[in-house]
Amino acid sequence: MPKTLTAYFTLSGHTKSIAQFIASQTNSPLCEIITEKKYPRNYLMAILASRKEFKHDERPAIITPKIEDFSSYERIIIGFPIWFFTCPMAVVSWLEQYDFTGKEIFPFCTSGGSNCVKATAKIRQICPGANVHDGIRFTKPDSEAISRWLNS
Ligand SMILES: Cc1cc2nc3c(=O)[nH]c(=O)nc-3n(C[C@H](O)[C@H](O)[C@H](O)COP(=O)(O)O)c2cc1C
Repeated sequence: MPKTLTAYFTLSGHTKSIAQFIASQTNSPLCEIITEKKYPRNYLMAILASRKEFKHDERPAIITPKIEDFSSYERIIIGFPIWFFTCPMAVVSWLEQYDFTGKEIFPFCTSGGSNCVKATAKIRQICPGANVHDGIRFTKPDSEAISRWLNS
């Protein structure tokens, strides 16, 4: 099995629970992407707080410690909630810290219904040297779907 890291961003915990399941299934360490600023847990307040990040293409500061042995990972699984039809800008901030050349990236999302297509395209732009696989939306932990996706 390729050496794997599972990273995720979450606001209300849904993505975290899927990430934990994937990490246990792939025997990979978990890395939570944590922002310096705290987004409100209330849905409408979170919309208001994050909307301008998209409008102004901002990069919220990340306080997750940098992964020192990042170059040793061959496969990165990255999970996030869909925000405004794409990945949160915190995910962009985290991705831009690293060189993904030659790595496999598997994006997954949770959402109210939107898919991962726009987010996957964005990740392909940010990580041009990586093989970014088609992203997948999970509504619940599903070991068969995870295996199929990771072997796609
Ligand atoms: C700021 C914000 C924007 C969102 N935008 C979308 C969206 O465009 N499409 C969608 O289906 N869900 C959207 N959602 C819902 C979340 O993607 C969904 O509730 C997700 O599962 C939450 O994951 P979490 O518990 O890991 O934070 C949005 C939620 C927030 C807070």
